[in-house]
Amino acid sequence: MTYPQFPPNFLFGTATSAFQIEGSPAADGKGKSIWDVFTHTPGKVRNGENADIACDTYLNSERDLTLMAELGLNAYRFSVSWSRVLPKGRGQVNQRGLDYYRRLVDLLLPRNITPFITLFHWDTPQALQELCGGFAGRDMANYFADYSEVVVKALGDRAKNWITLNEPWEHSAFGHLLGDHAPGHHNPWEYFRAAHYQLLGHGLALERIRAASPDAHVGLTLSLTPIYPSTSNPKDLAAAKVANQFFNDFFLDAVFKGKYPNPLWKQIGIARPKVGADDMKIISRPIDFLGVNYYSREFARAAWYVPFLRAWVDEVQVNDREQIINGQQYTNFGREVYAPAFYETLIHLKNEYGNPRMYITENGASFTDVLENGKVHDPLRIAFLESYMEAAAQAIRDGVNLHGYFIWSLMDNFEWREGFSKRFGLVYVDHATQERIIKDSGYWVAEMIRTQGCVK
Ligand code: FCB
Repeated sequence: MTYPQFPPNFLFGTATSAFQIEGSPAADGKGKSIWDVFTHTPGKVRNGENADIACDTYLNSERDLTLMAELGLNAYRFSVSWSRVLPKGRGQVNQRGLDYYRRLVDLLLPRNITPFITLFHWDTPQALQELCGGFAGRDMANYFADYSEVVVKALGDRAKNWITLNEPWEHSAFGHLLGDHAPGHHNPWEYFRAAHYQLLGHGLALERIRAASPDAHVGLTLSLTPIYPSTSNPKDLAAAKVANQFFNDFFLDAVFKGKYPNPLWKQIGIARPKVGADDMKIISRPIDFLGVNYYSREFARAAWYVPFLRAWVDEVQVNDREQIINGQQYTNFGREVYAPAFYETLIHLKNEYGNPRMYITENGASFTDVLENGKVHDPLRIAFLESYMEAAAQAIRDGVNLHGYFIWSLMDNFEWREGFSKRFGLVYVDHATQERIIKDSGYWVAEMIRTQGCVK
């Protein structure tokens, strides 16, 4: 078998986030986050599940580190829970919360695993939600910069790679527009404010992080979902363009070009957030790298009835089982497995955004995994990883400035509103016993890493 081959010093990691794995929501002085509140609100999460235990990582991080070492990974992306560090979101620092992350980094370094630390992965402190509406409030951008500085001051001597935000589109859209993520609001005005203020928070944090740790390497992570027109009708082409701007270019253009894209910006009219005189300058301060989360492409068509956008992105089919539709494999989250669009996205970033230094900070798939006789056979996940990693390797050969690949996820974890029903891990987790079993895909990754540089 031949495996995708990457350049020397390439980073092979997995990604997780605090809320999805840590559990222990009140340990050592932690404050509540909006996700603690949301998951305890009846009807919000599938099967009434919550993340009070999740993967129990807060109480036992070493177990997961042993797994990473076994898989041969040399990088790990995790997030810091803001409300562990600042229980009220600002003000009083909770040293025990900070110490947890220092210990975690101290466990990674001797194993030669490079930490990539996300500062905001959606778990807004509840106190700040109440104070200023979370990221829908402008003050939140400053609170985020203050919090970032606290974390980087404490960890910057040992951790060098920082990701300010994870997927600002998802947090704004699911949390503030569609309402199926915390804080559960349905408000287009809030959507655009949350998007803009997260970006502003990113820009303000960037400067504070650099001041606190001059050799820090700082970026942000965007989810990129390329939108293709559903037909060749010019109206659908125009709809795909606006949809692309809504999902992707809004964030990319702000960070790399210092402006929001048209026609989207014009079309949203009265829903536009207030942009301060210096905001775009702050948002577009140079970053050291772009984190790319990539899951799938989507298709759009013209839809006069959709406010502002006038475009509709065809419904993702969450049907709980993997299936083949028109010859294409879909995951059990209803996502199409189609690596060529991933390759095109990377080439697009090279051509349109100046080929920034990049890491794939998330890519992965959920399939129905079954534990049988102590083994989990997941050939669909192996095929997924093989095709996506090969697409990335090809993009590098074609000049894309990509330096690492973090698979979502190390282990099965709490998948937000889907609870534990979706498994993305390379490692299977028995959520009743916390037992971990490396899946076939985990062994595939270990072998892929081991063979680097061996195939000429
Ligand atoms: C991404 C999130 C991550 C995880 C994966 C499946 O959008 O960043 O936390 O839920 O999807």
